[in-house]
Amino acid sequence: KFLLLLFYSSSLCNWVRAEGAVTFDNYKILRVVPQNPQHLEMINEIETTQKCLVLLQGGNIGQPVDLAVPPHLQTDFMDNLRDQMPTEIISHNIETLINRESMQMQMESEFSTEAGFDTVFTQYLTFTKIQQFVLQLQELNPNLVKVSSYGKSFEGRDLIQVAVQKNTGSTNKHLVLMDCGLHAREWITNMECCHWLTQLCDTSSPAHALLDNFNFLVMPSANPDGLEHSWNTFRLWRKTRNTNPTNPACVGTDPNRNWAFGHSGTGSSTDECSDVYCGPAPFSAPETLALSKVLKEQEPTLYLSMHSYSQLILMSYGCDAPGLTNKNFTEQQTIANKAVQALHDVHQTTYEAGNSKTILYEACGCSTDWALAENLCKYAYTYELRDTGRTGFLLPEDQIAPTCDETSASVVTMCTEILKRN
Ligand code: ARG
Ligand code: ZN
Repeated sequence: KFLLLLFYSSSLCNWVRAEGAVTFDNYKILRVVPQNPQHLEMINEIETTQKCLVLLQGGNIGQPVDLAVPPHLQTDFMDNLRDQMPTEIISHNIETLINRESMQMQMESEFSTEAGFDTVFTQYLTFTKIQQFVLQLQELNPNLVKVSSYGKSFEGRDLIQVAVQKNTGSTNKHLVLMDCGLHAREWITNMECCHWLTQLCDTSSPAHALLDNFNFLVMPSANPDGLEHSWNTFRLWRKTRNTNPTNPACVGTDPNRNWAFGHSGTGSSTDECSDVYCGPAPFSAPETLALSKVLKEQEPTLYLSMHSYSQLILMSYGCDAPGLTNKNFTEQQTIANKAVQALHDVHQTTYEAGNSKTILYEACGCSTDWALAENLCKYAYTYELRDTGRTGFLLPEDQIAPTCDETSASVVTMCTEILKRN
């Protein structure tokens, strides 16, 4: 009986393997849709006991929650859930969605842009390759691109920032700050930052034309330790990789619950083992502290934080703060709607734009809410890129290019709309 208990309470996300990657063989993706407060309670219980890895967090009635269910929970546990509320099996074997062959090839090959930058968007990039990519871009565009580091991750990796500016004599340009990969497993977002950078450098792209009125600062890998861990060990890793002195058994902090806005509130956890662990204090993670300092120093007009998945453009506030409302919401919604339209025009992908608490779930300690509440930017959006759950974080590589094409097109529109109004 004791053994059984131990088995069930063992945290899925913190399995320690002597070597090699954790596999997700025969893990299912189960989508559950809570219909009433009791269901929400049940799901919350599952989240806190970490019986399953939560892929898509919940919080609202009627909103889907995606769970990665390990084989040993697929009978009793899953049947029980199915008796209670609507469920749908989205994938029968997560491992088949992970392209290990391609990952192996990427890790072993040299980075090269000889065949042109377009070929970059056929495979996901490791942290090393992202670094090589931005350095190459700088080499090819010395008057436009400046790569530097805005700090170090917990494990000592560079936090890369790429400034793109054109010398036009104008001194009053707007700044746009875009971060990608704050969450480790959201690989498509890293690709979007890289894609956006190539667009800015491509003189025939409408993005490049924005450089007359905008400067850009792009963080292509805001959580490099997490990204490495996702490549090498645990594909579905979300958090940073810091040790937690208060519980050495569990590693990492959720870098989008660690900000000084509603810290430790709804949608986050004070349990070190949770995937939404907010950390002992705001900015306890070096990755969020460093990023917050850049935001404070730079005060961008527009701040974009790239996440996946769900196909949404989210606006503040996504965490209840008494007496605080987003005064700029209507204008932000108008601009986001235009961005959604521009995105749709490229490959007919449908997005929704709205308040993040309403159309996704309440989450406290998030970066965009903090930046807006601190008055550091006028516009802040959290993107949730493709898809809507069929493959989730394991978006196939043939979707990298179309996803980036449409996302970058929407960012161009966002900038254009902002310029009209400012
Ligand atoms: N998927 C993201 C996360 O869970 C988005 C959160 C957006 N919420 C907000 N309050 N800004 O971290
Ligand atoms: Zn995310």
